[in-house]
Amino acid sequence: MMEEIRIRKAQTPDAEQICGIEKLCFSEPWSREAFVSEFEENPRAYYLVAETGGKILGYAGLWRIMDEGHITNVAVIPEYRRRGVASAILAALLKETAEMGIMHHTLEVRAGNAEARALYEKFGFSVAGIRKQYYQKEKEDAMIMWRHHNEDTETGA
Ligand SMILES: CC(C)(COP(=O)(O)OP(=O)(O)OC[C@H]1O[C@@H](n2cnc3c(N)ncnc32)[C@H](O)[C@@H]1OP(=O)(O)O)[C@@H](O)C(=O)NCCC(=O)NCCS
Repeated sequence: MMEEIRIRKAQTPDAEQICGIEKLCFSEPWSREAFVSEFEENPRAYYLVAETGGKILGYAGLWRIMDEGHITNVAVIPEYRRRGVASAILAALLKETAEMGIMHHTLEVRAGNAEARALYEKFGFSVAGIRKQYYQKEKEDAMIMWRHHNEDTETGA
């Protein structure tokens, strides 16, 4: 059985594990330095991790721009998927940033990424547009999704 999973703010020492997960999940992974710069130098950045016993299972983050949250990354280690880890992180991210006054959240997702699209739809995101051939490596369209905070989407359920 897994130890309890804790959702907490990401910190610089987490960057090593996070970039390891990036490499497992994305064709254009962000580097360790990119995450360190997010955590230390970008006042608009807000990142959370799911951690159990010192092991990072997943993370998600966004940039706060006025009353909008632009989600940059969401990922979970393959062996820990389908156990609600991404849902727990995203629920906390949406709740905590809504409490800061961020009422609109947006992201881009590969058109063919059915898992992620289903996750976002579960949290009240819907497709608002397409960016043709947005992804350079393994060329693919991006779907632009938005979620507007209101009573119905508040819990994410
Ligand atoms: C997308 C991702 C973050 C989901 O993480 P996860 O921890 O497995 O997600 P959860 O267990 O919280 O699942 C939440 C919901 O997402 C959807 N979902 C997740 N995996 C799915 C799958 N394989 N097939 C269909 N729906 C899926 C379901 O709606 C699920 O709810 P349910 O379990 O009640 O049916 C994970 O698959 C991942 O890291 N993928 C690679 C990175 C990536 O594509 N990130 C998104 C970039 S925009």
